[in-house]
Amino acid sequence: MTTEDSLSITPKAQPQTGPIAGPLALRIALALIGVAGLIWLMGLLRAGLHVHAPNTALLAAQPFAVKFHLVTVLAAFAIGGVLMVGIKGDALHRALGWSWVILMTSTAAASFFIHGFNPHGFSPIHALSAWVVVAAPFGLYLARRHQVAAHRRMMTGLFLFGLLVAGAFTFIPGRLMFQMFFG
Ligand code: HEM
Repeated sequence: MTTEDSLSITPKAQPQTGPIAGPLALRIALALIGVAGLIWLMGLLRAGLHVHAPNTALLAAQPFAVKFHLVTVLAAFAIGGVLMVGIKGDALHRALGWSWVILMTSTAAASFFIHGFNPHGFSPIHALSAWVVVAAPFGLYLARRHQVAAHRRMMTGLFLFGLLVAGAFTFIPGRLMFQMFFG
């Protein structure tokens, strides 16, 4: 076996059964996204359906940590999407996967410097950040150990809850994304 073989996660060695962590995780994630959607809709109605071009001045006024958090999370969102639907186990998957873990860990780390909800400390959302800084590198470790099924579950869970659910809740009224687009 070559080094390349030993590092690769081929579909032959570990059949891919689907891109999601599991039907239950998907249902929970969808339910949470639905809750966020309802809160967003209520806020939108209260704001009088005030949809407009993004207010970039609001973003420009944010501290560096928020800008860094946003740029890294959007890059992670794009790369994560490619990884979720793309082919598994080849060199491109590994390169994108490493980038994704670095981006996710960076975006979570940056969030420790954002204290919008609790100016004197951390908010419950920081628990998500703590999970991501541990889980993302651990997902990588699982891949390196060829524990493909566990790796897939971990990474898909991170994508579903760390990105999609967390992202949906950034659009609730009062938060920056809502203010930028609908405030
Ligand atoms: C699409 C995904 C995401 C977007 C668009 C986003 C955007 C933002 C923005 C704009 C802020 C600062 C302003 C505000 O709170 O409204 C923020 C704060 C925060 N984000 Fe994210 N984020 C995303 C995903 C994540 C992820 C994956 C994590 C954790 C790993 C995370 C953790 C946090 C935390 C802890 C805060 C600070 C909350 C506080 O003020 O206490 N976010 N996010």
